[in-house]
Amino acid sequence: MESGSVGAWLDVADARELQHLRRLVVSVTEPDEHEILLLWVRGRVVAVENVCPHAASALTDAKVSRRTLTCRVHGLSFDLTSGRQRRRPYQAAAGPLTRFGTRIDAGRVQVELSPLP
Ligand code: FES
Repeated sequence: MESGSVGAWLDVADARELQHLRRLVVSVTEPDEHEILLLWVRGRVVAVENVCPHAASALTDAKVSRRTLTCRVHGLSFDLTSGRQRRRPYQAAAGPLTRFGTRIDAGRVQVELSPLP
């Protein structure tokens, strides 16, 4: 795990490593200490807070299929493009996933400091 600040972006991982592993959990300390789950989905980097909005479990081993992330604890599914909960197969009170903008710069994955709306 690694992190470093680059203005409003955080440099968090090697892009080739993420492409190879398909997911990485990185610890960041800005603006506070938390973990971000990086996913390589269909050739793009997706970054979400490594916390399920249902009951705060880690999403480290969540199932990812196309653009859907499914938490393994209670089975809630979320749309990775909007962060919102999908209605099937199971629904419960939960906010959206906290998502972050991403970019690759000089082979490094960077995430925005502020979450996406
Ligand atoms: S903690 Fe993730 S679905 Fe309940």
